[in-house]
Amino acid sequence: MSNNREIIIFDTTLRDGEQSPGASMNLTEKLEVAQALAALGVDVMEAGFPIASPGDFEAVREISANVRGITVCGLARCNQADIDRAWEALKQAPRSRIHVFLATSAIHREFKLKMSQEEIIDRAVQGVQRAVGFCDDVEFSPEDAARTEHDFLCQVVEAAIEAGATTINIPDTVGYAVPAQLGDTIAMLRNRVPNIDKAVLSIHCHNDLGLAVSNSLAAVTNGAGQIECTINGIGERAGNCSLEEVVMAIRTRSDYYQAKTAINTERLVPTSRLVSSITGIPVQRNKAIVGRNAFAHEAGIHQDGMLKERTTYEIMRPEDVGFAKTDLVLGKHSGRAALADRAKALGFHLTGEQLLSVFDEFKKLADKKKEIYDGDIAALIQQEITDIEQEAWQLDSYEVKANSGSGPSVRLRLRHQGNEVIGESSEGDGPIDAAFWAAEQATGVKLVCKDFQVRSATIGRDAQGEATLEVEHRGKTYRGRGVSTDTVEATIQAILNAVNRILLATATTTQSPQTS
Ligand code: KIV
Ligand code: ZN
Repeated sequence: MSNNREIIIFDTTLRDGEQSPGASMNLTEKLEVAQALAALGVDVMEAGFPIASPGDFEAVREISANVRGITVCGLARCNQADIDRAWEALKQAPRSRIHVFLATSAIHREFKLKMSQEEIIDRAVQGVQRAVGFCDDVEFSPEDAARTEHDFLCQVVEAAIEAGATTINIPDTVGYAVPAQLGDTIAMLRNRVPNIDKAVLSIHCHNDLGLAVSNSLAAVTNGAGQIECTINGIGERAGNCSLEEVVMAIRTRSDYYQAKTAINTERLVPTSRLVSSITGIPVQRNKAIVGRNAFAHEAGIHQDGMLKERTTYEIMRPEDVGFAKTDLVLGKHSGRAALADRAKALGFHLTGEQLLSVFDEFKKLADKKKEIYDGDIAALIQQEITDIEQEAWQLDSYEVKANSGSGPSVRLRLRHQGNEVIGESSEGDGPIDAAFWAAEQATGVKLVCKDFQVRSATIGRDAQGEATLEVEHRGKTYRGRGVSTDTVEATIQAILNAVNRILLATATTTQSPQTS
């Protein structure tokens, strides 16, 4: 292994990450995240699982057609239909990769696939060969590799490389591995598979035991050349290996790992914020690298040390991961250029049209609020991005009656398809409950509220309220988001945003195969 080898960062936020319950993104949101990943310097981006749904296909195709400077990857099971569909979605990308997978562990063979070892090898080889017929960058994953018998794993890996796979990814699908053991598995493959030097060895860890980052690093120590990870570690169940953590571990401890990545680390915090706001999955305050408290020193003794010499208590600088030095304030007189500048610094890529629309909202906000902070701007932009294109239902106006002692009621006036105005009143246990009832009656869409949060986007009593909610409709989870200086209005917007997402999804989805 060379001394300062470059580790390939394979981001799967848009595929495995999007499988987090409630984290599904619409096309505009996926494109926004894809652009941010390209700016972050990710080497390979897994943009989706094209056969899973028309939405996934469309997203992979649009990303392939529009995002540059990055390899775009699409996932496929080892069968003809999946692989052909993946290629159809990927073919416009200047650099593309097909990622085929097939489970190999005894549990999966016996109970899920009902296939023998020989049949698995044949299917894997056929899958890789079909993918190689389309593109010369092909990744093969023996799903649940971490629980697969070593002898059989070696045979499958050798056969997949022989068939043309250029990357072999070792998934710890259920997050069962521990660092030393997974490191040994990588070393074992390097020692025992005769053609292993013809492929890059990759690692894909889930975080069920909280070990995804440690396991990935152990794999790197033992020769893995690619890490699969997601922004903020989002993903199935407890999530995947967190990109920001693994990248900063390699960078901060390059003395130990003798390795580097091409990640532009100053984009980590903006990208983390973008993914959090788009998916509605908050970043915990004390999360390493990107959490709000990650660089906050509270203890007096630490503060004193820091003032004398920052390295006494700081192993990384906040600016290296993209925490801004100032929370610059804009106001009524700030122009479009200043807004565009802040948007860029916050990690957003706005089209001219989006900038115009955000600038309009910015001016309205500046009439209500003297000082506009980064959080306000991010909230306005996120609103622009999360607004779904064909909004069936929009809020025209509302009225709330509430006082202690009598049940609150809400009257909504909603616009349907841009013109027809529908009024609906309802009572509830509280104004929010009443708003849910009224929205359900007006739109005819039944919602089960699973999570509801209102938080202020910035500081001060006049801060914008950001309402996010998660609702269930016919067994599926959807998100909704609304922003306003009036928190009741923000909540109603969030309810309608969820209703619109449901209507859009139910108009376009088919049953989708999922994997982790
Ligand atoms: O966790 C897993 O096994 C996966 C594979 C598809 C790589 O996500
Ligand atoms: Zn996975």
